[in-house]
Amino acid sequence: MDYIHFENIDSTNNYAKTISNKKEWTVIYADIQNGGRGRNGKSWVSSKGGAWFTIIIGDNQIKIDDYGKIPLLIGAAVRDYLSFKTSKNFTIKWPNDIYYEDKKCSGILIEKIENYFIAGIGININNKIGEKGTENGIVLKEICSIEYDVIEIIKGVAENIKYYFEKIKLGKWQEIYVEISGKDYLFGKDIIIFESLSEKKAVANGISYDGRLKIKNQKGMEEEILSGDISVKINK
Ligand code: BTN
Repeated sequence: MDYIHFENIDSTNNYAKTISNKKEWTVIYADIQNGGRGRNGKSWVSSKGGAWFTIIIGDNQIKIDDYGKIPLLIGAAVRDYLSFKTSKNFTIKWPNDIYYEDKKCSGILIEKIENYFIAGIGININNKIGEKGTENGIVLKEICSIEYDVIEIIKGVAENIKYYFEKIKLGKWQEIYVEISGKDYLFGKDIIIFESLSEKKAVANGISYDGRLKIKNQKGMEEEILSGDISVKINK
């Protein structure tokens, strides 16, 4: 893997998109992002001490039929590495947020350009949070009472993502799916699903084999939701 470092940049995802000769498995990381972006057009607070990085992944790494699994595949690789590194129990909030108990430790923004997936990953490590937009966040430092080496975590996560792509190529999605299903943060919870102008209440009912969120709607009927421009909140 090749690594490109910036002290300060608007967004590592934006930068990755501008590279004219993109090389797969290039990792762009920054100490600080001034214009960090999250899913659904939100901004992503990226102050010093966190891991803010983007991996360029060739779209030939995965069959078109499996594109819908990519958010979960990458989420699973991030979750697995964080649990391995810290010995703590992290879960996946579908499609690809990483949670510790009821707080978000990591978020993933996947974009597609040309023949590449631009996978942006933010992990709260030693950074300060609590300001606007990070109220529900938690940092590894608080979870584990240790300061972790940010570069080591970036490299470890990037390698693990590559490894998870190898696994799916080798036909091991079943194994990853079982792992994800056992770490499904939303399972059994009352949720609200927000989709552009509409919102609906439901109960989360697991993840389908092809990566959709299974829900029971208010009439008790099962439905499956595709990730995309939707967000899911716990209905407290
Ligand atoms: C989310 O949870 O909404 C996704 C957050 C993704 C943040 C990362 S940080 C590195 C990369 N660059 C960005 O601008 N965003 C992603």
